[in-house]
Amino acid sequence: MKLCKVLGLLASLQPVISESIIDFSAARGDSPSMLGTENLQTDRDKTITADPDDLFIKLGNDPDGTPALHFHRIKDYIRAEYHALPGKIEADQTYYIGYKFQLGAIEQDLMVFQFKAYSGNDEDGGNANIPLSLEFKSGKLNFQYQNGYSGKRESQWSTTLSTGTVYTFGIVINTSDSGWAELYFNGDKQTFATSGSTRLSANTFLGRNEPKFGVYRGEDVGIDSYVYNIQIGTELSDITEAAGLGSDSGSGSDPEPSCAWDGHCEGATCSDENDCSGELVCKSGICSSGSAPSCDWPGHCAGADCNDENDCFGSLACKDGSCASE
Ligand SMILES: *[C@@H]1O[C@H](CO)[C@@H](O)[C@H](O)[C@H]1NC(C)=O
Repeated sequence: MKLCKVLGLLASLQPVISESIIDFSAARGDSPSMLGTENLQTDRDKTITADPDDLFIKLGNDPDGTPALHFHRIKDYIRAEYHALPGKIEADQTYYIGYKFQLGAIEQDLMVFQFKAYSGNDEDGGNANIPLSLEFKSGKLNFQYQNGYSGKRESQWSTTLSTGTVYTFGIVINTSDSGWAELYFNGDKQTFATSGSTRLSANTFLGRNEPKFGVYRGEDVGIDSYVYNIQIGTELSDITEAAGLGSDSGSGSDPEPSCAWDGHCEGATCSDENDCSGELVCKSGICSSGSAPSCDWPGHCAGADCNDENDCFGSLACKDGSCASE
């Protein structure tokens, strides 16, 4: 019976052919260095040297014990971010960015994502400083677009988030001259309030831009944020996990169990729970989260005849020719 789990593990270790550029999973224990450059800052002028307990980004657990990349910043400190793909974002591309996180605090001006410009973002250059961002204003998280240096960051979409809740975002950025952005929230494609459509025309890229993840500003409070996945690729399928695009997407706040066994994730068909990845169980022939039903396989429940444990439902074992609990 355990053989199936071993096969599942082997399947998960096989190389995946994909255009994926970054695939970070805290649950897998991936090194955060794959995200690029760590960017910690105390005060604006960088005059304070932080106690390492006060400002850090490191692998740990969220308050529920789930593995997460923990971003920690005490009150008055300004930045704990990862600055991804330095110098690597190119023109005329479409980047898919998936980002799964929860926040320990929400504060005015707190920014949790930036597509930040690093060239020409001054009066002479005319570039927007932060063309695209996710920032809290008046208690809501806003997807913002800034068009050019003198433009303001304008909200295109907003929603209310809660602390202690896992959310998934998918941010799609086309960096061509007639560029655009699209947004997924908890697995669902969003309509922008401004354009009235799921696509926002945007000047996203004018030389050098990089995505940043973590916490910036909102320094009136200390903050902890917990990041589970960051995926960046050139196709929507590259961000399935981090953007919550699985079969159970759009259901809201419950984090999906992470799934390392393709074809055996939530919603896949199954005969028993050994067909299902990780903690998923087989309920009525479908891999599902939650606890296993006591017996879902008529003729193979406790007391049924068996030759070995594959003849018995779920965690039942074959003892002396009949299915029994282990
Ligand atoms: C980016 O968008 C433009 C249209 O605005 C389109 O012509 C182009 O193919 C897109 N690029 C990629 C790589 O998808």
